[in-house]
Amino acid sequence: MLKDKNIALYVTGGIAVYKAVDLLRTFIKEGANVRVGMTESATKFVNPLTFQVLSRNEVHIDTFYESTPEHLAHIHISDWADIAVVAPATTNTIAKIAHGIADNFVTSSLVATKAPVFVVPAMNTDMYENQATQANIQTLENRGIKVLEPDTGFLAEGYEGKGRFPDKERILDELESFIIQHSEDLPLKGYKFLVSAGGTEERIDPVRYITNDSSGKTGYAIARAAYYQGADVQLVTTAEHPLPNAIEKIKVSSADEMYQVIDKLFELTDVLVMTAAVADYKVASQSKSKMKKDELADKIVIELEENPDILKAMGNKKDKQFLVGFAAETENLEEYARKKLEKKNLDMIIANDVSREDTGFNVDFNEVIILTKDDKRFDISRQTKNNIARIVVEKIINELNA
Ligand code: PMT
Repeated sequence: MLKDKNIALYVTGGIAVYKAVDLLRTFIKEGANVRVGMTESATKFVNPLTFQVLSRNEVHIDTFYESTPEHLAHIHISDWADIAVVAPATTNTIAKIAHGIADNFVTSSLVATKAPVFVVPAMNTDMYENQATQANIQTLENRGIKVLEPDTGFLAEGYEGKGRFPDKERILDELESFIIQHSEDLPLKGYKFLVSAGGTEERIDPVRYITNDSSGKTGYAIARAAYYQGADVQLVTTAEHPLPNAIEKIKVSSADEMYQVIDKLFELTDVLVMTAAVADYKVASQSKSKMKKDELADKIVIELEENPDILKAMGNKKDKQFLVGFAAETENLEEYARKKLEKKNLDMIIANDVSREDTGFNVDFNEVIILTKDDKRFDISRQTKNNIARIVVEKIINELNA
């Protein structure tokens, strides 16, 4: 999402400046171009050279120091930026932005920018909760500036409170959501995605269940990838992982529960992606109370009955919907996957070999073959599930536009 984005990172003076170094590294790793402006007080916490080396760009501090005669640095960086990030933002800088004060490089540049502005406050709890700070934050929000809520935890002052610089994962999620809100040309804008994730849990009794090795990582990665391309995403899942707030998460446990949710949401869905490892069978009669070992024989038989085939049922009733299945195979990968594509009336199927230890279930990597109903075939080499998800979503976009 941040690839090739121009980010102006404005660093203001608080103890959390050292965390902005890591944030900058994350932006660079994600493929963004970053230019940094610092207030004088920020330079007291971390030497500007650190930001210069990591961003591979000059760091701007003094509004009146112009290293390039062709342009004014504080105007140039604000025109160049696709997004302005103020992190950490002190109460002082927040107040200045709220009131249009331009008395240093950072605030002058922010007054001039037309890019969306994303603010990450970090300060002492009492400063954060002060009425003036809260009123200034409200002013920024009223202007469409995104102000992140700080984390609660151990502060530099030696006690617990609200005001901590958030984890970089949370900042990234919120930043990406903010960018999506400001992007008009994303290919999946207006599309509703319904994604399933994780292995279903089929109860034997209140304390035991039958499940499988699916971690839900693939489903979460697909949900994110679709969301980053502008889709409205609902995720039906048995597994728990972090997710951008804008993705609606619906927790289920059994195949029956997953079926009911998907069946209900299907009519308003444009694209259904079933990554979930749905158990084919459930326990025929679940025990309401814990089965007592003392009362059981040495060998017991648990009778199983068929679960609904969710994807097949949706395939039977689809009209406009684009259906994507995953095929977990241990042999004859392509042949079996293509049979499932036909039998379940799918538009695309992603075949993966789940007999391997370095791909498939419960690892971060996968290697897949993408097959479409009109006989296209794409071999995707072993890579992270996040990358695979991006490629799968790209292929879905191509098919939707075909
Ligand atoms: O969650 P991870 O740890 O990241 O692992 C990812 C994965 C290996 C689970 C994933 O890549 C995968 O292969 N998911 C499909 C697992 C599966 O159930 O495959 P299947 O070949 O049995 O089913 C084919 C398709 O029908 C699947 O899309 C499945 O969701 C769907 N199905 C299956 C049975 C059933 N009763 N209802 C269904 O909807």
